[in-house]
Amino acid sequence: MIKISDLNFTYGNNFKLNINNLEINNGENLSIIGPNGSGKSTLIKIFSGIINYYSGKIEIENNDISKISKKKLSRIISTVPQDFTTIYDYNTENIIETSRYPYTSFFNLSENKEDRDIIDYAIKITDLERYRKKYYSELSGGEKQRVMIARAIAQDTEIMLLDEFTSHLDPGHTQNLMKIIQNYCINKNKTVISVFHDINLASLYSKRILVMKDGEIKLDGTPYEIITRKNIEEIYGFDCTVISHPIYKVPQIIFN
Ligand SMILES: Nc1ncnc2c1ncn2[C@@H]1O[C@H](COP(=O)(O)OP(=O)(O)OP(=O)(O)O)[C@@H](O)[C@H]1O
Ligand SMILES: [Mg+2]
Repeated sequence: MIKISDLNFTYGNNFKLNINNLEINNGENLSIIGPNGSGKSTLIKIFSGIINYYSGKIEIENNDISKISKKKLSRIISTVPQDFTTIYDYNTENIIETSRYPYTSFFNLSENKEDRDIIDYAIKITDLERYRKKYYSELSGGEKQRVMIARAIAQDTEIMLLDEFTSHLDPGHTQNLMKIIQNYCINKNKTVISVFHDINLASLYSKRILVMKDGEIKLDGTPYEIITRKNIEEIYGFDCTVISHPIYKVPQIIFN
């Protein structure tokens, strides 16, 4: 279980993040939505260890993550960051291979069969086979995002943090990867926390949605509880119509 208590953080400007109490069960597939600047990426950065000057506690199975070494934490949490455009200049395969570094030891730095199998699996499901040897700087925005997704999958962690992981993907790759990640996580009991701007995707994808606004969690519930015309108006300030998905019966919004 993940437990966040009394989490407080500020960048030193007007923005304050404050989460008093949040519990996420193992195997849960949870989405976070909320307006621009509400603190979604900040929470993901704190959780993944990129930001480490906060007060309060984040625990995984009762272990405070601030006391876990970076390498060990990389065997527990993988992240697809929101901003990934200029991170590397290696080829696709080499970047995905770096995901296995947390599993190396001083005595064994070389890749084994398990490493190779999961790297090949991640490349296959993200449809990157033909880009294996292509340099990151030569890829399109959506291809780069798929490299980051492949890297997170190959890292094979209990917890995946996905910050708008479909923002650059075309609808075909979006649907395909949503389903693959969902099934992969159900089969392997992984905990997935995904930030979305697309309310309909969040509703289709997860059974629990958190709404962040002004650095706080304002709502926490099922898609039915969260996605109502009144809530959308209050959260985002726009008017919409909410309908039921004809196949999956979950709420979906249409712009008015
Ligand atoms: N490095 C930084 N230094 C100072 N302020 C920052 C920094 N990063 C973000 N902020 C501010 O903190 C607030 C929260 O930012 P955050 O990136 O968490 O928002 P978000 O909910 O992810 O938004 P978006 O939907 O646009 O991605 C914003 O007001 C932003 O301007
Ligand atoms: Mg963000």
